[in-house]
Amino acid sequence: MQVLNALKSDKNDVIKFCKNTFSWGDYISEIWDYWYLEGNLFVVRENNSPVALSHASISKKYRQVWIEGIRVNPNFRRKGYASSLIQHSEKQAIKNDCLSSFMLIETNNKNSLELSKKLGYVIKETWNFFSLLPEKPISSQIEFINTNTKIFDLMRSLELFYVDSWRWYPLNDQQLSRLVENQQIIYSNDNNEYSVAVITSSTHFAKTMIVTLLFGNDLGIKKLLDYSKHLANTQNFKRIQVLTKLNKINNSQVIIKKLSFYLMWKKLE
Ligand SMILES: CC(C)(COP(=O)(O)OP(=O)(O)OC[C@H]1O[C@@H](n2cnc3c(N)ncnc32)[C@H](O)[C@@H]1OP(=O)(O)O)[C@@H](O)C(=O)NCCC(=O)NCCS
Repeated sequence: MQVLNALKSDKNDVIKFCKNTFSWGDYISEIWDYWYLEGNLFVVRENNSPVALSHASISKKYRQVWIEGIRVNPNFRRKGYASSLIQHSEKQAIKNDCLSSFMLIETNNKNSLELSKKLGYVIKETWNFFSLLPEKPISSQIEFINTNTKIFDLMRSLELFYVDSWRWYPLNDQQLSRLVENQQIIYSNDNNEYSVAVITSSTHFAKTMIVTLLFGNDLGIKKLLDYSKHLANTQNFKRIQVLTKLNKINNSQVIIKKLSFYLMWKKLE
């Protein structure tokens, strides 16, 4: 068995076994073309047809690989295909001087969790996904983070991740400065406590705003989410996806908890 680069024409065969992967369906049909263009989209074939796939998003800037979209046709499971795909991605990442490999696994996906642990991954953090809808203007008092503020220094001192297109990246100095410059980090200071969020838009899913809610108190979080809803409305986003390590969000407006995920990590060597 060999791991090969995917062909553009593999899409139809792949989609056939990636429709009802999870209780909510699957997203491979929406994302295949982007991943194909990005490269490092891998498949395993049986009788010339793809029966397993995964994508590796290799970031030289962060020296990390983000492994995503691991799918094995149900008729070909427990043959080591997923393991081979992951190990192949790791090898490509090492060739590109990456130091870490990451993937995201739904907390109730026992099979995938077993798989990743067997390959040496550990749970780095647990994240929650909430969904929210854009809304007409709501007045909310938030501020943009500036490089010469106390909160900027505080953020530099914490080991934080932010989410860009459902990939988790460390908020290092370089990224912090870039996001600050683009006014993508919002905050509020209520009762001497900071609440902070990072706003990005998905490059893969249409009209989708992603809010990484880093920390805060109820009042501050309400302000940040009200602002996000307002911004999403004025910029014609259809949905807001909130990703946070917080378990609960007390918000008077409708916010629905969808899923929880483990951020899995492995040191590459
Ligand atoms: C999870 C999934 C990718 C595993 O693919 P696979 O090719 O069958 O996995 P492998 O054969 O490489 O399995 C390697 C190890 O993972 C674990 N594992 C995989 N499937 C398992 C299962 N159904 N039950 C328990 N352990 C399992 C085992 O430790 C296994 O080793 P073993 O067979 O020697 O016991 C596959 O079941 C799948 O496509 N599931 C739906 C999509 C999905 O969940 N993708 C991952 C998203 S993060």
